[in-house]
Amino acid sequence: MHIVVTGGTGFIGTPLCAALRASGHRVTVLSRRSRQDAATVGSLDEIDSATRVDALINLAGAPLNGRRWSAAYKQEIIDSRLRTTRAVLDLVERLDAPPAALLSASAVGYYGHHGDEILDEQGATEPGFAQDLCARWEELAGRAAARGVRVCLLRLGVVLDAGGGALQEMANSFRFGVGSWIGSGEQWLSWIHRDDVVRAVAFLLQRDELQGPFNLTAPAPVTSQQLCAALAQHHRVLLRAGVPGPVLRLLLGEVAQELLLNGQRVVPAALQAAGFRFDYPDVERALAAIYADQAS
Ligand SMILES: NC(=O)c1ccc[n+]([C@@H]2O[C@H](COP(=O)([O-])OP(=O)(O)OC[C@H]3O[C@@H](n4cnc5c(N)ncnc54)[C@H](OP(=O)(O)O)[C@@H]3O)[C@@H](O)[C@H]2O)c1
Repeated sequence: MHIVVTGGTGFIGTPLCAALRASGHRVTVLSRRSRQDAATVGSLDEIDSATRVDALINLAGAPLNGRRWSAAYKQEIIDSRLRTTRAVLDLVERLDAPPAALLSASAVGYYGHHGDEILDEQGATEPGFAQDLCARWEELAGRAAARGVRVCLLRLGVVLDAGGGALQEMANSFRFGVGSWIGSGEQWLSWIHRDDVVRAVAFLLQRDELQGPFNLTAPAPVTSQQLCAALAQHHRVLLRAGVPGPVLRLLLGEVAQELLLNGQRVVPAALQAAGFRFDYPDVERALAAIYADQAS
């Protein structure tokens, strides 16, 4: 297959593109960075209408974590995703033969903040910045269906692996002997091992009958305290303490509430119903693999 990937240089996109190429697919990456090879385009307009594109994977967007959300940065978070998704739609319109599939990223933030309620793909939504962003992102991507494209919406949980992503930030205090959870520690965190993301995307690419929203989360979400206990197995912890919500809000602003103190308990009902099997169904197994890789 010829697969065009936006955001193919990122934390998910890099191993995903490598895996797709290793499986024999031709991959073209959209990237704003200076081009290093013929398989990268700076704009989707560079793809000729006669080009055969079998599938599109849409991952690009400015990072949500790692900095305060000023009004301008919130706009960049939104614009970067909607702008790229519009460019994807333009390409779908322009191609002589539309691609068979569009797999477009979203996030479990789609559901908004929930307590202990278990959320599958039909779960209720609660308003908030992340909810609004994901709903708009999904709605736009869904428009490709009008050209007969099979659209899968990837509602990603927090992706865990070494070398970046959320785990790097979560494990920071542990490196100094402090095992910390966030706020009350009771909020749910829906996570997934990065290898399972790559496998789930390959699974969705192959299964022509699958479309609609898919929660890309491990079957066993954890609370912030449970994650802390699992991380503590891999560090020498001298002190355990929660980081109070008001302190986080003061330090980080709105991002603390939306991404750290709010949570949702999401399960991958649609993927499992389709027969997808997770290599890392629980966080203990995922962290054991990640830390074993780091040690080797
Ligand atoms: N990782 C997670 O835990 C997680 C969880 C839920 C949802 N997601 C979503 O999944 C997608 C991929 O995640 P990721 O962790 O791989 O993200 P990432 O590492 O931050 O990479 C995303 C890519 O988007 C491009 N990008 C960054 N800023 C941009 C901007 N202002 N305008 C246009 N493109 C921009 C970059 O490509 P170039 O620099 O090459 O242009 C980057 O490689 C993201 O949209 C993210 O919101 C991720």
